[in-house]
Amino acid sequence: MARIVSGDSGTREVVAALRSGQVVGLPTETVYGLAADIRNDAALLKIFTVKRRPVTHPLIIHIARPEELEDIALEISPVCHALVDICWPGPLTVIIRAAPHVSRLCTGGRDTVAVRLPAHSSAQNVIRQLGSPVAAPSANRFGDVSPTTALHVVDDLGDDINLVLDGGSCEVGIESTIVDCTTAKPEILRHGAITPEAIEQIISTCDAALATRVSGTSRAPGMLDRHYAPKTQLVLHEREAKVPQDGAPVLHCDGDLVEVARTLYDQLRGLDARNISLAHVVMPPSGGLGFAIRDRLIKAATGL
Ligand code: TXA
Ligand code: MG
Repeated sequence: MARIVSGDSGTREVVAALRSGQVVGLPTETVYGLAADIRNDAALLKIFTVKRRPVTHPLIIHIARPEELEDIALEISPVCHALVDICWPGPLTVIIRAAPHVSRLCTGGRDTVAVRLPAHSSAQNVIRQLGSPVAAPSANRFGDVSPTTALHVVDDLGDDINLVLDGGSCEVGIESTIVDCTTAKPEILRHGAITPEAIEQIISTCDAALATRVSGTSRAPGMLDRHYAPKTQLVLHEREAKVPQDGAPVLHCDGDLVEVARTLYDQLRGLDARNISLAHVVMPPSGGLGFAIRDRLIKAATGL
């Protein structure tokens, strides 16, 4: 069973484990990650085994200093520079062309790679002390709800990993915004706490504009229709007045959206823990953080 460790001694244990080729639970400001040293393919492979995730789904590389992006990238566009200058450390992942030495296990065999600099001091300390970036998908089984506390990670993966570094509950609560910076017009592949409005504004300083999202399959592999899904069936409503009074629990996701995002996955996990078969959800409006919350709720509500 995985042990939860914390503080300086916990950080040292986690760094030693990464150095010896283990995968560990690592806090970030978005969700907890399942981390491995990017220099160690055997360790990277363990991520896929533990998560039960197809190896063709690429991983996000987490760095601790912006300069480390240069080692991973073949080229960095002005738009990418502008985005990371303003948003890092923070919940933004950029897709860039990968340098040839980047492991195929990180890129999923593509010529691009996803990189972010998390705004969590524990994650940064681990990466610095290890002396190498780590790859980290969310520390849950493939398709399930992401973890936002160390205990969530133990609940999901406790039998398959040894250590989880406790960094408290994640401040943002939903996964990072992913922006593909390799196309002529940058594109948001996954919504997150860095809003489309903020991204539009930043890239407009480079005379760029976001690609208008075409519906259909996302170009981010692994972005399935059903994802972030609890066992409880969710019924989504645009207005409180539409919710039937049938005694089923109601999640109000239309209030303070920062708070809604922060607590969303814990609430979804709570429904499963209480064996609730059906729950109603009052949706947030589109716009700002509402895009990301709506995206997670729609995916969480999609039947198998
Ligand atoms: O907030 C986050 O981003 C969290 C924390 C742990 O940092 N990580 C996370 O990782 O959500 P993961 O693996 O669960 O989601 C990464 C997404 C996947 O959907 C993957 O397809 C996409 O990023 N991705 C990674 N590399 C890509 C690439 N080269 N091209 C397109 N999409 C990519
Ligand atoms: Mg995930």
